[in-house]
Amino acid sequence: MVQAPSSAPAVQAPPPNWVESRHPLGWAIDRLLAVEPLRQLLFQQARGLIIRTAEGRGIAWRERREQLRAAAEPLMAAVTDAATQAPAYYRARFHAYDQGNLCWEAACEAEQATDSMALRVWPKEPDLAPQVAQTRLRSAIFAAIEPSLSAPVARALDMGCSVGVGTLALLDWLEGRGDAQAPTVEGLDLSPQMLAVARVRDPQGRIAAWHHAAAEATGLEGGAYDLITLQFVCHELPAPATRAVLREAARLLRPGGVIALVDQDPDSEVIRRLPAPIATLLKSTEPYLEDYFSLDLPAALAEAGFGDVRREACDPRHRVLVARR
Ligand SMILES: C[S@@+](CC[C@H](N)C(=O)[O-])C[C@H]1O[C@@H](n2cnc3c(N)ncnc32)[C@H](O)[C@@H]1O
Repeated sequence: MVQAPSSAPAVQAPPPNWVESRHPLGWAIDRLLAVEPLRQLLFQQARGLIIRTAEGRGIAWRERREQLRAAAEPLMAAVTDAATQAPAYYRARFHAYDQGNLCWEAACEAEQATDSMALRVWPKEPDLAPQVAQTRLRSAIFAAIEPSLSAPVARALDMGCSVGVGTLALLDWLEGRGDAQAPTVEGLDLSPQMLAVARVRDPQGRIAAWHHAAAEATGLEGGAYDLITLQFVCHELPAPATRAVLREAARLLRPGGVIALVDQDPDSEVIRRLPAPIATLLKSTEPYLEDYFSLDLPAALAEAGFGDVRREACDPRHRVLVARR
């Protein structure tokens, strides 16, 4: 477990070689992906493999996609805030989807992709069930946040909530802490399709609100939250957007409130030594990876007004940065 002293900002590792466009490996991958027919071929092959692998591990990828779409499409109008505009960077091609996060295919495959991601964390456990992997992943994240919480959490916000896998897990964890006041958890995302699927996945309405907004300009009440989480969001943001999101989170948190960012760990040996074909694939689906690995997140947290930055590896690939407002 990597843990920096709680008062000192953790030092950021340099980006892995495969990420950096100045490094020969990173450069070669960039040149390869610049050949559009080649990139598309790679994508299609990879996508087929990802779906087949997931289905082989018990994730009903295609069946679940159709189920979710049928249930979520009618909710589109109810979850959409017409005043919310997606910034240009957000309209980039993400994952294998030309319309990035703003399409039904992405939203109706997000749950399955999230479970596949959890399985990939423990590749040496071929019999691990997707739900068990997901629970293990989230439990480790929340265990890493716990030492920074010095007060009960009455109200939490999960920014970049996607279809709510982490949002519901956050609520389960907070409810299990046994604070006197029952916790309230809200989700926020820029994709109305993701939010519609999140609503379908939360049939009892356990999540207090699913906000359609940009994390950098939420329009929500300032000083109102005890905890803000960004689970696997920062790697999807260009550096200026990350800084803006951190400033907005500082505005939303009450003094002493806590922010937690979980994402790929720049210090992880698994991440640093990804085999070139996997690195190529990852890079081709994540437009802001170089920004993510180049940005000194602990320093960005400090600039946004956060202190007591802690860093903790929560699994072999991911780390949690926790800081206090
Ligand atoms: C990889 S998914 C997050 C997964 C989810 N938090 C989880 O833990 O499973 C990234 C999400 O962040 C959202 N997102 C990216 N940029 C955003 C922004 N500026 N404001 C709000 N949401 C954003 C995307 O729409 C997407 O749903």
